[in-house]
Amino acid sequence: MANVYHIPAMLTETIEGLDIKPEGVYVDVTFGGGGHSRAILAKLHEFEDLRFEISNLGHLYSFDQDKDALSNAIDDERWTFVHSNFRYLRNWMDYYGVEQIDGLLADLGVSFHHFDCPERGFSFRFSAPLDMRMNQTAKRTAADIVNGYSEEELAKVLWLYGELKNGRQIARNICRARAQKPIERTEELVEAAYPHPLPKRRGAEIEVPAQYKKDLARMFQALRIEVNDEMGALREMLVAARDLLKPGGRIAILTYHSLEDRLVKNFLRSGNLEGTIEKDFYGNALTPFDVIEKGREASSDEVERNPRSRSAKLRVAEKKS
Ligand SMILES: C[S@@+](CC[C@H](N)C(=O)[O-])C[C@H]1O[C@@H](n2cnc3c(N)ncnc32)[C@H](O)[C@@H]1O
Repeated sequence: MANVYHIPAMLTETIEGLDIKPEGVYVDVTFGGGGHSRAILAKLHEFEDLRFEISNLGHLYSFDQDKDALSNAIDDERWTFVHSNFRYLRNWMDYYGVEQIDGLLADLGVSFHHFDCPERGFSFRFSAPLDMRMNQTAKRTAADIVNGYSEEELAKVLWLYGELKNGRQIARNICRARAQKPIERTEELVEAAYPHPLPKRRGAEIEVPAQYKKDLARMFQALRIEVNDEMGALREMLVAARDLLKPGGRIAILTYHSLEDRLVKNFLRSGNLEGTIEKDFYGNALTPFDVIEKGREASSDEVERNPRSRSAKLRVAEKKS
């Protein structure tokens, strides 16, 4: 099968969760291959026959910080692509004169395209420069982090974002290797982190011992999250989304690892980044959202068809009136 840009996870469940209104303004902050965006637009068009009864037609703004996503552009007057990090959601909505939105979707992380493009350095399966930037014009690459962070900082990234129990040992191995020579390529990082037995190269592909694959995937994930400041961007976007959503508006988020899932879960429960539930004088919780989906997982059928949907969790909430 030819490489596909991305297969969207839990497509039907996500679109149902957004409960799309014909005249609504929607934002997909993670356009990628455009699977979710296309489904939102299809819903907006479903209501076209009603256009004489409603004053406005719906619109969708789709964000992606990776310019490669533009190769999936949609020819539709109700669609606007925003080539930007979603942390600037508020600024862009101001720019387009949008004061409130009816729904927002975030399908977090990277797309299949990122893993399938060897030269982007997201995968330990291919020999490539240690890059991992989703936004190709960003300054900091994975090589900058691997060669520039202290052992302590590296261990923290590996533990926090990769949940690697042996993160300290790996950080020590990396620091020992880079003292001899900077680590510039994926295979050099694999070799530095797990010095025995050595990975083999077959052309552009790296063959690593099976027992290291899971940990390597976690190590690459951790570095990718740090390179792209994924947690920082998510925090800023959540706050902007909360403030932009209309009463009755929906937010649907697909998370893929426990740290981002915990942040989203606590935010939707409490309405703030600290996760603290404020109470009124009578002890009633003062929260801005009603939680609708609490971490729904893909069906076994979907996981069979699309194994990468295995780690997806869908969380949906509605802004209270
Ligand atoms: C999991 S994919 C989304 C796939 C999409 N739902 C689809 O149906 O094809 C995530 C996409 O969001 C983009 N992305 C991730 N973090 C971002 C951020 N902070 N700002 C803008 N785009 C981001 C990535 O470049 C990637 O294309």
